Amino acid sequence: MSKEHIYIDIAEQIKVVTAEENNIIARMATVSCLLSEAFPDFFWTGFYLVDEEKPDELVIGPYQGSLGCLRIAFGRGVCGAAAASGQTQLVDNVHDFPGHIACDNRSLSEIVVPVFNQAQALIAVLDIDSEKPANFDQTDRRYLEQIMADVFGRCTIDPD
Ligand code: SME
Repeated sequence: MSKEHIYIDIAEQIKVVTAEENNIIARMATVSCLLSEAFPDFFWTGFYLVDEEKPDELVIGPYQGSLGCLRIAFGRGVCGAAAASGQTQLVDNVHDFPGHIACDNRSLSEIVVPVFNQAQALIAVLDIDSEKPANFDQTDRRYLEQIMADVFGRCTIDPD
């Protein structure tokens, strides 16, 4: 099955499973699990949430994979760059990314997608890492941004 088809399938599954569930953590856990199960190349798949008590810091959320760093300041590493800029970060080789945070040395390429709520406020970032170089492209970006908008941009319950 092509990457596109997998994303289309997964987006539908996520929609069905989360349809009656507005809790943000439950949604994040479901997304991490389904994406990680669908793509064997995803070595680490999970969320860092904007800390309500320290709004310039990300704190670990639901994930699948090896132990992740607990906190990341805005502007630090790939996740911090996505949070600070509000833009998706696609990194072919993390060793070339200034300030990359090596939670696990096996991680080689990654994509980090900012997550916004209905009010367009940044609530988290989705971080996906791979042991393969250049594992992510514009297809991943397009579908992951769409899934984040569908699952969190229309959440009727605001985390605040
Ligand atoms: N890759 C991230 C750090 C988080 S972990 O890899 C789980 C970064 O540089 O932002």
